Amino acid sequence: MHFHILTLFPEMMMQGLSTSITGRAMDKGIIDIEATNIRDFTKEKHGHVDDYPYGGGAGMVMQAEPIYLAHQHVVEGIEQRRALCNEQENEELSEKKKTPRVIYMTPQGRVFNQEIAQELAKEEDLIFLCGHYEGIDERVLDMIVTDNISIGDYVLTGGELPAMVVIDAVSRLVPGVLNNDVSAEFESFHDNLLEYPQYTRPEEFMGRKVPEVLLSGHHKNIEAWRLEKSIERTKERRPDLYEKYCKDHNK
Ligand code: ADE
Repeated sequence: MHFHILTLFPEMMMQGLSTSITGRAMDKGIIDIEATNIRDFTKEKHGHVDDYPYGGGAGMVMQAEPIYLAHQHVVEGIEQRRALCNEQENEELSEKKKTPRVIYMTPQGRVFNQEIAQELAKEEDLIFLCGHYEGIDERVLDMIVTDNISIGDYVLTGGELPAMVVIDAVSRLVPGVLNNDVSAEFESFHDNLLEYPQYTRPEEFMGRKVPEVLLSGHHKNIEAWRLEKSIERTKERRPDLYEKYCKDHNK
């Protein structure tokens, strides 16, 4: 899986994503993440990428041209890589020829969730566009963006942190990124249930004991206990999800 990011802060993104699990997945070549600096594509002699908004108002707007050119550069790179792969593998071009989705991180987008993460994890390439200042010239958004995604109903200073959130959530669904593939499936939000509580050694911590059933070795009972705890927890903490769970299970 190949992630491409269009940003004014490539170092911030690469530093964050090069650590921990996503970093290890990059080292192993399971995913790759490339951040392209939009500023490298401005023709303005002082390196400016923003200007005053037409019609007046506060703040600055990111200009269309550097973003358009940065996107074009990334798409050309993807096409070259795909052509090389297809040559080597003597493979049909059909599916791979698809132009990659461009995700604009914006509070005006579809609110991100696990279902969207699963949908995005099926793509071979994803391009993320991170905005700053008061926004981006609408014309380039109309030209290149395929998806608008928000990470919640609050406003951040830029799209970098939201893009990192989405890349992290999508990466861990790519086969081989987590140590065991089962864990991505059986955890919070699978089947609209939150995850059951977990315990590790010691058996007793400051007078608090690990639930007896987990020490029993009786797998059926453990499974039943975990499901019960998941349901209990979802009902209490996320009644909205619990309602969906009940609907799906005709309860
Ligand atoms: N950019 C600024 N705020 C955002 C948000 N909540 N989600 C996605 N992108 C954003």
